[in-house]
Amino acid sequence: MKIFLDTADLAEIRRAAEAGLIDGITTNPSLLAKVTGDREPREIFREICEVVDGPISAEVVATDTEGMVREGRSLSELHDNIVVKLPLTEAGLRACRTLSGEGVATNVTLCFSTAQALLAAKAGATFISPFVGRLDDVGHDGMEIIAEIRQVYDQYGYDTEILAASLRHPRHVLEAMLMGADAATLPSAVLYKLLRHPLTDAGLEQFLADWKGTGKSL
Ligand code: E4P
Repeated sequence: MKIFLDTADLAEIRRAAEAGLIDGITTNPSLLAKVTGDREPREIFREICEVVDGPISAEVVATDTEGMVREGRSLSELHDNIVVKLPLTEAGLRACRTLSGEGVATNVTLCFSTAQALLAAKAGATFISPFVGRLDDVGHDGMEIIAEIRQVYDQYGYDTEILAASLRHPRHVLEAMLMGADAATLPSAVLYKLLRHPLTDAGLEQFLADWKGTGKSL
């Protein structure tokens, strides 16, 4: 399963990429707004593409098909690894069909149901992003739709990749793996929680203390 980092923060991206922990990046307008300041958003996307050699999702902000297609074409020209992120609206699916037909990689986002995911696959989406945590927030079991989408895509032979999104803790990531998601996007806090385990820390501390007792070096 591919792991993407859900951020536009270059320091976070560099750290995870240099450690070899991530396969790509997802961003959204809220994440981009946090880091933009007086920089040009396109400059930020270009820089991310230089740091990470994998799919980099850049989201449109137009709400009409024509505007989404225009923004999507222009974003995709920034780098071969750019994936144009489009909202799961009628206009977004129309734009997805057009851009996918032109060979542009797409990520249909803000997916909250299996039926929506089917429509995105039919529109040719490269990735579908079901938002697990936000479904949990309103009292649903967000992970259920990952399992359902997996079943539907396999049953009908769609090759759209399931990108589990809005993951809030390591258990979400584990469950996404078990459900057969193709990729998961997570914030840095969740990525490092996955990496660390208290028994690893305790075990290492014990090994080093025992070795120190010998007074020798390697
Ligand atoms: C995914 O593409 C989104 O950027 C992200 O996972 C949303 O997560 P949130 O619900 O924690 O904001």
